[in-house]
Amino acid sequence: MADQNCSVLTLNNGRTMPSVGLGTYAPKQDEDAVIAAVKLAVRAGYRHIDCAAIYRNERAVGHAIKQLIVEDVVKREDLFVTSKLWNTCHRPDIVEVNLRKSLEDLGLEYVDLYLIHWPMAYKEGGDMMPKDANGKVLYSDVDYVDTWKALEDCVDLGLTMSIGCSNFNSKQLQRILDIARIKPVNNQAEVNVYNSNKKLIDFCKANGIVVTASSPLGSPGNVRESYSTLLKDLVLMDIAAKYKKSPAQVALRFLVQQGIGVLPKSVTASRIRENFDLFDFSLSDSDKQQLVSINKNIRVYLEDCAMDHPHYPFHEEF
Ligand code: A2P
Repeated sequence: MADQNCSVLTLNNGRTMPSVGLGTYAPKQDEDAVIAAVKLAVRAGYRHIDCAAIYRNERAVGHAIKQLIVEDVVKREDLFVTSKLWNTCHRPDIVEVNLRKSLEDLGLEYVDLYLIHWPMAYKEGGDMMPKDANGKVLYSDVDYVDTWKALEDCVDLGLTMSIGCSNFNSKQLQRILDIARIKPVNNQAEVNVYNSNKKLIDFCKANGIVVTASSPLGSPGNVRESYSTLLKDLVLMDIAAKYKKSPAQVALRFLVQQGIGVLPKSVTASRIRENFDLFDFSLSDSDKQQLVSINKNIRVYLEDCAMDHPHYPFHEEF
């Protein structure tokens, strides 16, 4: 549920999550760029930082958070920090130790939200992308339902305040809901004006699960060039001009107005500020309808190296 100006979302356990979070994944980014981005974002007003073990930069994020706290820019309790359990760490007996590793890297005693990054388990061990001699990813047969129970234990230990999923489809979320002692508060999914993910969002809303949008700008310049056209969409650009906002701001506002959290990534100072400046305008119903009409149901991140995994999420419609 979103508050009136859409800046805060209330989770099903009564806790709140700022609707705009800084995404910290970037394939080529160096540690200094991450530190600078987090520091700038928090100074610009962000209170939500989205991290993950697989981004391999949680130490840099932690360094920035520590400096911000020491410099009295922010208090720990005013930040909402998310981390994610990687696919090689699903076995229930190693969940806690992996969360503790993220906490150590982040320099925190707890995270606000801990997510299972993907429903697929990969072979446990040192390498985060374990592969055979032919380059095929090696799987583990751990069921994410068992992983979930270990996440619940982490809540009991006070290591995370809330738990959730990421890249799960509705059937997988339902399996978790069926056994959960502690319900998932969140499912992080790829959502943007070119990938509305409407059925999944409706399912999550009906079950009290807040959705956060990864790649809310369609990851321009990332992964697949053909997907990088979202911010140049003519309908989006027209609407942006009308509100004297940028296409990115309209694309993000469109989501937060629906009660969806957004996690735009940027290491560019002006864009970090721009992506947070969403709360002084509101899209009209007819403009929202136009943005609905440009949906193409295209996904940027497929994790297609694991398409034949029994828990691969994207074979289902939603
Ligand atoms: P950069 O980090 O160089 O600023 P997404 O969050 O959808 O994955 O998109 C992230 C990508 O979008 C990054 O490459 C980032 O580039 C770029 N980006 C972030 N904010 C904006 C913006 N306001 N306008 C244009 N591009 C942006």
